[in-house]
Amino acid sequence: MGTRLFPIGLAIALSGLAVAFGFGWGSGLLEQWQLAARYTARVGLPLFLITYCASSLARLWPGDGARAILRHRRQWGLSFALTHSVHLMALALYNAVAGTMPSATTLIGGGGAYALLYAMALTSNDASVRALGPWWKRLHTLGIHWLWFIFAFSYAGRIGDPARRAEGLLFFGLCIAALALRVAAQIKRKRG
Ligand code: HEM
Repeated sequence: MGTRLFPIGLAIALSGLAVAFGFGWGSGLLEQWQLAARYTARVGLPLFLITYCASSLARLWPGDGARAILRHRRQWGLSFALTHSVHLMALALYNAVAGTMPSATTLIGGGGAYALLYAMALTSNDASVRALGPWWKRLHTLGIHWLWFIFAFSYAGRIGDPARRAEGLLFFGLCIAALALRVAAQIKRKRG
């Protein structure tokens, strides 16, 4: 598989594993889809963070590795869109089995994130960059930070729960570290 297709292949494998683990560990359809939703979000996080940090890594440590990630940033972004589409499917099935609807706050925060995610995925090509002009950057900057916020907010919410504190701290910490990296790259860009 060529390097260009590696992120997409990885996303297909990770989402399949996430759903399989959900079904292996959960007892009953409801818990299985809940775990599938949880694990698909979890495997999407590293793919999201690679996309979120790609240009900052290349600015702070311009080496072959960082340049290779930057060159394939579109594919990393699309790989996250793929795992998060499986998250959407899993949580829709979870709600269908439970006969529930997500809260209005979740629908607005999460639904807005999906609208932005698909707008970004559909405009991840040279023709859209040319057609949208400065709006392309505005759309992608807003979208990537909105997605970052939902991840950070979801994991920060777990820190108060003793049973889930460890994962909350770990994954929220990763989100904060990624943000710090972007800020450091901005400072370097302005200075240099
Ligand atoms: C309407 C949209 C969404 C709904 C209804 C929703 C629903 C869910 C559900 C049911 C779970 C499993 C909860 C559990 O752990 O028991 C979950 C987990 C999660 N979702 Fe979503 N989600 C939505 C969109 C998003 C988006 C856009 C993001 C990120 C950008 C996201 C990030 C997460 C995270 C981080 C977890 C926790 C995963 C973990 O435990 O590691 N969700 N979501």
